[in-house]
Amino acid sequence: MNKLKIHLIAAARPNFMKIAPLYHALKKESWADPIIVHTGQHYDLNMSDVFFSDLMLPEPHLHLGVGSGSHAEQTGRVMIAYEQALIEEIPDLVVVVGDVNSTMACSLAAVKLGFKTAHLEAGLRSFDRTMPEEINRLVTDSVADILWTPSRDGDDNLIREGASTGKIDRVGNIMIDSMELIRSKIEAEAVYKKYDLEPENYAVVTLHRPSNVDDPDKLKQLCRTLVRQSEKIPMVFPVHPRTRKNIDKADMNGDLSKALNLKLLEPISYRSFMNLVFNCRLAITDSGGIQEETTYLGIACITLRPNTERPITIEQGTNQLSRADELESKVNQALAGPVRKRCSIDLWDGRTAERVVRSIQKHLNILK
Ligand code: UD1
Repeated sequence: MNKLKIHLIAAARPNFMKIAPLYHALKKESWADPIIVHTGQHYDLNMSDVFFSDLMLPEPHLHLGVGSGSHAEQTGRVMIAYEQALIEEIPDLVVVVGDVNSTMACSLAAVKLGFKTAHLEAGLRSFDRTMPEEINRLVTDSVADILWTPSRDGDDNLIREGASTGKIDRVGNIMIDSMELIRSKIEAEAVYKKYDLEPENYAVVTLHRPSNVDDPDKLKQLCRTLVRQSEKIPMVFPVHPRTRKNIDKADMNGDLSKALNLKLLEPISYRSFMNLVFNCRLAITDSGGIQEETTYLGIACITLRPNTERPITIEQGTNQLSRADELESKVNQALAGPVRKRCSIDLWDGRTAERVVRSIQKHLNILK
């Protein structure tokens, strides 16, 4: 029997931990040939390659090398390059993950040529159309043939938008699989020591959303607030390339380097970053994934955004939204709360990849 070719599209940093567990699960199946397609949206060594090694992924089988650009440039370049790859490869299934520009671009290229397409992490909605990711999610979910959701709110959003229930399979949160896949390696490190931090007595900070970092005044306000809060709790802040450029442009390096308790780092590997998260007291972020990872671990998280597409993290009581001017009171509140909270979300159990494999078998009529 010929194996079924399954394209796993990986593009940007948050995608790599979503394809890894699925790649490993499909590799075990006699009928499946998982093929990693890297669009090249993220290309720096520490934004891409280190994630492949941490997650035991092989080199991408196909590399589209699109790089950075405006939204239209990046989306267009991915569509053109991936259309060509589809024509040459003829996959049996295309799997896109998350909500980055490449997710939408590859879905559009694939469905227009009639290739069956599945979206892993379907149904999340911030209801904020100023976010590029919300547009990517809406477009991807409206064209994909199979919709794999992480939680009940995902199903509800899709049904409200008119998706047929036959397309939706609730599979759980694949990011948890990645964390569990390399948990022993994450726990074997003590990265916080390298930065003279004590376990459960520091905050991990990440910021990269255009709405927080592209406007110099907003970025200055956020950086100054972080500097002040770091006098209360030491902070470690791996800086995303977009944020790094904007810190330089806003001329904030002087102020930030004077703050002895706020350590700015280059972007770091998945394993090292997760070790910092596992041992922190608090996360301050605008990332989607970190809201979920902290909730799973029962760690307090302050999300510097007016909304979230992951409301379940708020319901669990670990995550809270914050404006820059509310950060001080939210930090105080988080530090007054428990160090770890017991959380449990149905299907966030490290077995999502197995459920995705079963769903593929069902949708492609593959007998066990
Ligand atoms: C993208 C995703 C965002 C995701 C984030 C995680 C979209 C619309 N946004 O945002 O949803 O949360 O990835 O990081 O798809 N750059 C480098 N090296 C790299 C990659 C980027 O220096 O390897 C710089 C470039 O100057 C680039 C800028 O970062 O212009 C932004 O990169 P881009 O991929 O456009 O968006 P992100 O902000 O990373």
